[in-house]
Amino acid sequence: MSFPERPINLLVTGGCGFIGSNFIRLLLGDGSPGMPVKSLVNLDKLTYAGNLENLVEIADDSRYQFVKGDIADAELVARVLEKNLIDAVVHFAAESHVDRSILDSSPFVQTNIVGTQILLDAARSADIKRFVQVSTDEVYGSLGDEGFFTEQTPLAPNSPYSSSKAAADLLVRSYCHTFNFPGIITRCSNNYGPFQFPEKLIPLFISNARNERSLPVYGDGKNVRDWIHVSDHCKGVAKALWQGKPGEVYNFGGRCELQNIRLTELLLELLDKPKSLIQYVKDRPGHDLRYAIDCSKAEADLDWSPEITFEQGLKETVDWYLEHEAWSSRILSGEYQKYYQQQYGEALSSD
Ligand code: NAD
Ligand code: DAU
Repeated sequence: MSFPERPINLLVTGGCGFIGSNFIRLLLGDGSPGMPVKSLVNLDKLTYAGNLENLVEIADDSRYQFVKGDIADAELVARVLEKNLIDAVVHFAAESHVDRSILDSSPFVQTNIVGTQILLDAARSADIKRFVQVSTDEVYGSLGDEGFFTEQTPLAPNSPYSSSKAAADLLVRSYCHTFNFPGIITRCSNNYGPFQFPEKLIPLFISNARNERSLPVYGDGKNVRDWIHVSDHCKGVAKALWQGKPGEVYNFGGRCELQNIRLTELLLELLDKPKSLIQYVKDRPGHDLRYAIDCSKAEADLDWSPEITFEQGLKETVDWYLEHEAWSSRILSGEYQKYYQQQYGEALSSD
């Protein structure tokens, strides 16, 4: 199954979210030499986490097309693939927030599992040449104080979110095995950077600190996450798409482990705010202790490595959120719903 060397027609799902929008800007901007895109369709349901404003810079690019829709809508997905002669799919669309999955797992099962299955069947019928399943290190479960997740680490997801992502990964794996389907799975650690929905730790804490609100640190704050700049992750996904081998899994990480409390202190230092804003709150149920990624396979096979240092990336990220406060407040206050209705004459889905 050879991957076209000519410019490709690409379907990106979930391109209005945090990572998907950074990925689309990377591919359609100047940053992806040697990865030519003839056309790019962005299929996104525009849930609370999807925001068309994230892509205003490229909205008028003649190669770009937005389709508002659900990956679990089989008829729509088949039509989009067929009409646009899609060569490859990069699948970002998901319910992505662990805390929400603890409150209600049903949208996670519906989008992350059923939606992926529907997409896989449509992609198989359309004979696409590559399918990149963008997944997470959380499918591996939790580490103790030592060790790293490798691509061989057994899956042991602990939250409804990570279980739904693991189920989707296993579907992709089974399609590769059973149907010789050209699927590739990427698993990445915690992303940070511009356009992240302000429910996740970094943008939430920046927004709270700026407004002198307390920063709710779960449990004792000693849980460890491995942070990677979103642009490094997106470059890895692009490399997996063009250079990855069907059937393979590639881990991406930032080689930057930090306890949550240390990260919180760093944010307060950058924002020049007092530590008294830190408030320890009830722990997340089932809270994974530590994630750490061994990304040596991606480094060796894809000639990829994280380029942005955490010091530089975090400073730029804080500056971006300070400069884009209106973006955060529009999302958080529901203003964006009104903006969308004005722009597009219809209400956004509220789920
Ligand atoms: P996000 O929540 O910011 O964006 C998700 C996007 O998917 C939104 O635009 C939303 O509208 C869209 N979407 C949701 N359900 C849909 C449906 N049924 N049909 C079509 N579109 C739908 O998520 P993110 O943080 O950008 O994550 C993107 C992907 O990367 C996810 O698959 C996630 O599991 C994975 N991932 C995220 C991280 C991270 O740190 N954020 C790390 C590793 C992997
Ligand atoms: O590891 C990759 C995963 O990273 C992705 O698959 C998920 O989509 C993404 O949401 C992220 O999951 P986390 O649960 O690690 O991210 P979150 O930003 O929600 O939390 C980061 C850490 O901070 C985690 O240990 C929980 C803690 N936390 C989070 C919030 C929102 C707090 O202490 N307080 C908070 O208010």
